[in-house]
Order: sequence, then C-alpha cells, then structure tokens
Amino acid sequence: MANLNKKQDYTITRANREKMNRHHSFLIWFTGLSGSGKSTIANLLEKKLHEQKIHTYTLDGDNLRRGLTKELTFSEVDRNENLRRTAEVAKLFIDAGTVVIAAFISPYINMREQIKDIVGTENYIEIFVNTPLEVCEQRDVKGLYKKARTGELKNFTGISAPYETPINPFVEIDTVKETPEQAVQKILSMIKSKL
Ligand code: ADX
Repeated sequence: MANLNKKQDYTITRANREKMNRHHSFLIWFTGLSGSGKSTIANLLEKKLHEQKIHTYTLDGDNLRRGLTKELTFSEVDRNENLRRTAEVAKLFIDAGTVVIAAFISPYINMREQIKDIVGTENYIEIFVNTPLEVCEQRDVKGLYKKARTGELKNFTGISAPYETPINPFVEIDTVKETPEQAVQKILSMIKSKL
C-alpha cells in the first residue's frame, strides 16, 4: 500500500536530544530461548546504565504482550508483527535520545534482520543469550516447558517451534559459564564507545 502522507519535519532532532542527554542513543536487542536469562541480564544492564546517568527504557516481550501486542499469538505471522511493532517503538525511543534495551525471543533470523532494517543497522546491537534448551527446560522458571511437552502450549520455541541461532551477534553470553554480573560487565565494555 502506497503511503501518501508527507513526512513532517520538526525542529528538535535526535541530535539535539542526544546532546542534552550527553550520550548517544541506540538499541540493545537480547535474543534467546524462553527462560534463557534475557530479562535478568537486561534488568541488571539497565540498572548499571541508570547509575551512570544514561537515559534508558526496556521493552520486554512478556510485558508488551499485556498491552501493545496483546492480541498476538505465537504463530510465525504474529511473532513477526510483535517484533515489527516493537522495532517501530524502539525506533521512536532512539529518536527520543534513549538507550533502548529489548528482551524478546525473536526466534527467526529474518525477523531480527527486519528489526535491524527498521531501526537502522548502525543503531542495532544484537546480544545472544546462549543457554542450552536442556538448561532452560530444567530451570523452567515459568512452568511453560512442562506445558509445551504435554501439548497444552502449542508453537513453543525450542520444543514445537524453531529458534534460529544468531550467526554473528555483537555479544554472546554463555549463561552456564557466566554470571549475570559478568555478562553485564562484558556488554558494558563492548558498548562503551557507542555511548
Ligand atoms: S517472540 O517469539 O514473539 O519474540 P516474546 O519474547 O514476545 O516472543 O514472548 C515470549 C514469552 O511469551 C516467553 O518468555 C513466555 O513467557 C511466553 N510464551 C507463551 N507462549 C509461548 C510460546 N508458544 N513460545 C514461546 N514463548 C511463549
């Protein structure tokens, strides 16, 4: 569908906001299985950035699915729409001068490519929270793997729906070997020059 709307220009730009905030804005995107530790690491990262007076906002799949994306299921099409909307929101926050942290399974490579296209490659930092399925299933923090195994939950990532491993993530976290604190230190040192 052709969009006939003309873009309106506003005087205050991202550059003005970044200057006022005294740091740059971009998106830190966490991908990984359910229960891999994305939200835990994202939460600790945001805490550390906040302590450094960085303006942050976190978008979390479980939380956004209670509002903005509440009608969406876990079919491939709906996951795609879930991530497209989230990326558009992230784009607005980046324009607002905020460091955006996002924690979504985002299981398909092409969907993560779409996110990158929406926000712009230079604004996208991918973090792969690499926790083996067996470990996530053993932890089963939310009891969802059990439900997926019995068939009560359909299309469950890792069990009855795919997870496509990132090919070249900016940072990879091995949660079996690294604590959340170590993971956050690693991420902080990797993003330091971008702030
Ligand atoms: S995504 O695939 O569209 O990126 P998202 O990160 O928003 O997923 O939501 C994942 C969360 O939804 C999981 O952590 C889990 O709590 C819950 N969930 C419910 N059903 C499913 C399912 N079929 N597959 C994966 N996660 C599910």
